[in-house]
Amino acid sequence: MKSLWISVALFLSFVQAVAAQERTVILAGRLVDVETGRVLENQAIEIAGGKITAVGPRGDTPADAAVIDLSAMTVLPGLMDAHVHLTSNADEHGYNALKVSAADRAISGVVNAKRTLMAGFTTVRNVGSGGGFPDVALRNAIAAGKVPGPRILAAGPSLGITGGHCDVNLLPPEYDHTSDGVADGPWEVRRLVRRNVKYGADVIKFCGTGGVLSKGTKIGAQQFTEEEMRALVDEAHALGLKVAVHAHGTRGIKTALRAGVDSVEHASLIDDEGIRLAKKTGAYLSMDIYVSDYILAEGEAAGILEESLAKERAVGARQRASFARAHEAGVKIAFGSDAGVYPHGDNARQFAYMTAHGMTPMEAIRAATRDTADLFGIADRAGSIGAGKYADIIAVAGDPLGDIRVLEDVCFVMKGGTVYKDCRR
Ligand code: ARG
Repeated sequence: MKSLWISVALFLSFVQAVAAQERTVILAGRLVDVETGRVLENQAIEIAGGKITAVGPRGDTPADAAVIDLSAMTVLPGLMDAHVHLTSNADEHGYNALKVSAADRAISGVVNAKRTLMAGFTTVRNVGSGGGFPDVALRNAIAAGKVPGPRILAAGPSLGITGGHCDVNLLPPEYDHTSDGVADGPWEVRRLVRRNVKYGADVIKFCGTGGVLSKGTKIGAQQFTEEEMRALVDEAHALGLKVAVHAHGTRGIKTALRAGVDSVEHASLIDDEGIRLAKKTGAYLSMDIYVSDYILAEGEAAGILEESLAKERAVGARQRASFARAHEAGVKIAFGSDAGVYPHGDNARQFAYMTAHGMTPMEAIRAATRDTADLFGIADRAGSIGAGKYADIIAVAGDPLGDIRVLEDVCFVMKGGTVYKDCRR
């Protein structure tokens, strides 16, 4: 009897193994090869076990393979966004944010993760989630297949100084509120890095200058001393995590670069010395150059404070000019959009801003695939369509090299070999 059960179990695991190995072939009319920067015609992508097993000119399809015919479309690697807040919503700004609990955020995260995936973004970095680690829970639920969403690199709560951009400064002192990631002094900063790692963070995010949407902070003011930043980066790197700094102001950007950060978020007022430093250290800039238009058009209704709108009016255009300068100088640029400030799923709107400020469409697509994968430290697994990579594949009806805005309307989304969207069905 026992041996019968063993053979049944063996047979079932054999069936599962065969099912996992089942082959799918995608026929791609045009395929954007972000490694070579070329567009290849009439390609076939073979997929098994959630990964790409072969890519090449279309030939005879193996008889046992399921065929997905995208020969009328342009096929690209899944897009990536290095700066999202999946657990925040675009109508929760200013004092509206105080109504939102950690449990609310977790539920919003489930909704927003699906929207993000359906927009063609198959990997994102969640750079700050408030307390309670809802982004870690979301990442785990998606990875376990419980809810649909992109692969997530989660930061947990962002670190920052008392009263800084990563604190919440909306309440009077008698409420005595301090946000989860607030730390002052190098050892306290190290302790919070360790705490974020303990609860599952993949990356450390901190605020190195004031910001637009925080009350009472100055964009140009550095937050944390160089000593604190060095301690933070040293601790994170020692534990094997990369570091992303929120920094708009010229001085804070440069201090953070000297401290060894891996990416500068916003980078609005970066000067020539900052550009040189970024080139020297190899840090990426992750510049959210679409969101300004959303903030200025919709922000007031969404609860954004007048002082924040004033800051945005001062910084938005300068950030776009900085983007053009940094790109021209050859600084590495990732795709980071700050989704959550504006509605999730609209991430691809930023592409048109990137091409309007100096990138070719191919450069913008590479920024959102190969280059962001490099920043994430996953370029060996993701970011392009090649043998051995995750089967994270999208398709659009038009030609994104001619009109980048067709990426705002993604028709087909596959992640890890599973089809999540096919607009033709
Ligand atoms: N979260 C950012 C901040 O509050 C948003 C900045 C948006 N503005 C911009 N020009 N990128 O600072």
